[in-house]
Amino acid sequence: MKSMRLERLLSNLGYGGRKEMAMAIKNEWVSVNGEVVRNPAFAVDLDIVRAGGVKLDGEKIDPISPFTIMMHKPAGYTCSRKDAGDLVYDLMPERFKLRKPILSSIGRLDKYSTGQLLFTDDGDLLHRITHPKTHAKKYYEVTLRDDLKGNEAELFASGEFCMTEDDKPLKPAEWSANDARSGTIIISEGRYHQVRRMFETVGNEVITLNRFQTGSLALGDLEEGKWRVLNADDLDSIFA
Ligand code: URA
Repeated sequence: MKSMRLERLLSNLGYGGRKEMAMAIKNEWVSVNGEVVRNPAFAVDLDIVRAGGVKLDGEKIDPISPFTIMMHKPAGYTCSRKDAGDLVYDLMPERFKLRKPILSSIGRLDKYSTGQLLFTDDGDLLHRITHPKTHAKKYYEVTLRDDLKGNEAELFASGEFCMTEDDKPLKPAEWSANDARSGTIIISEGRYHQVRRMFETVGNEVITLNRFQTGSLALGDLEEGKWRVLNADDLDSIFA
């Protein structure tokens, strides 16, 4: 049985500092399996925590690590913890920024791009998704300023395509056009502003970029600006 001190558990989930949490517990705000616990040092069984047995102020506490969420990022939000302007972290509860282990985004979307953005506190998962060997495929809808030339699919799939100011060719990417100025691209790397730079290199410009899928995990009907916790099936589908 693995256990953790109650005040530490709550503090690690970002609800407040250890002293503040000890006070909340002494003030009878916390229950375990329906019983109020008044001792901040109470060793709570992590299986009980996982089963949702701990409540703070009558609400089930957040899931403990490993914790992974999917967000539908709107345009105009930056993937950063402390830049100026709107940040993707502003779209989640404040306490998520204070969690230990920390919740980081898995890769990034640039400020103007939209769509699926994953966050995890699970280092192994982050590594598996972003590592060059296991890199999960990422799917984007793209709209363009100019008409396609017609050779983009072949160039991007070649394995020899080099972006401007890059000397290492990109791994093959799959481009399929919908019409003269839009299509879907599937990439399996995560270089800086990769999709925008790929089209810049062929003399075009990306106007909108929306990531809608990673592996087999789709954004689905998650509303813009919202997030949800991923379950074991969702996580498996990333690598399916
Ligand atoms: N490629 C880009 O240019 N931007 C992103 O956010 C993701 C991929």
